[in-house]
Amino acid sequence: MAPSAQSLPTSVSDEKYANVKWEELGFGFCRTDNMYVAKCKHGESFQEGKIVPYADIQISPCSAVLNYGQGLYEGLKAYRTEDGRIVLFRPDQNALRLQSGANRLCMPYPTVDQFVSAVKQVVLANKKWIPPPGRGTLYIRPILFGSGPILGSLPVPEYTFTVFACPVGRYHKDNAGLNLKIEDKFRRAFPSGTGGVKSITNYSPVWITLAEAKAKGFSDVLFLDAATGKNVEELFASNVFIVKVEERVVPVEDLLDAEEVFCTGTAAIVTTIASVTFKEKKTEFKTGDKTLAAKLFATLTDIQMGSVEDKKGWIVEL
Ligand code: COI
Repeated sequence: MAPSAQSLPTSVSDEKYANVKWEELGFGFCRTDNMYVAKCKHGESFQEGKIVPYADIQISPCSAVLNYGQGLYEGLKAYRTEDGRIVLFRPDQNALRLQSGANRLCMPYPTVDQFVSAVKQVVLANKKWIPPPGRGTLYIRPILFGSGPILGSLPVPEYTFTVFACPVGRYHKDNAGLNLKIEDKFRRAFPSGTGGVKSITNYSPVWITLAEAKAKGFSDVLFLDAATGKNVEELFASNVFIVKVEERVVPVEDLLDAEEVFCTGTAAIVTTIASVTFKEKKTEFKTGDKTLAAKLFATLTDIQMGSVEDKKGWIVEL
């Protein structure tokens, strides 16, 4: 958990920063100052929302999100660069992914411009919560959900699009090399299901296996595909890469044969996997400075922090 920001002494004397011990940041909730809220009635489009003080929201007990799980979230980060700029990494791609999920869950959605503008407003309204360069990032959480009451059938009378943000450090504590459990019982995503979109319902059904694995000392869980139970799919919060230059279905045997394995995600960044345990048998992989994961981590974070030129147009400056 992130430390309670309010109660900690500052480690950066500059007044432009919030009162946070940046070096202790984990990946947990930390209340910041402001959030963005926009609403949309059934049959209408999202109008420009507004920045309001961060606060709990009031919602009908009969809302579509609470009763039927009609909700999506996104995750992206704002970075403070060494030369004092504040930048985002490919926010338009998060907007497009939200739109594709909204189509799947029958929800209206903000335009790409509205989405990116909302994200920028939240970052600027919480500027002092963006960690100093190299000490963390501001994780931004846009959420879109059916906030209106619905008991039986559609339409849902109201939708809400909210964006809040928290300063974060690394998602995995043991980021020098994760020890994974390959989950052999519970599945995370299903053919024709919602695994391809960021539905809020994708996550808590597999907390049971994550909690069990963590209690046994594993860092995370690697899921197998629902159709065959033989192929590697993803971790709880990130994608998995086996060091081979091919994009294809990966049977577990190929994973166990690999020299190096790593995972990627907004929260996870690029993190080396030190071992996987499948049916009680542990297989170890290459870790350390010489891995491809280490090179990719350095290149990606250098681009995000502005110390390497962004040749792809991925960086959006505020
Ligand atoms: C992200 O990387 O933003 C995610 O969605 C994972 C989340 C569980 C922290």
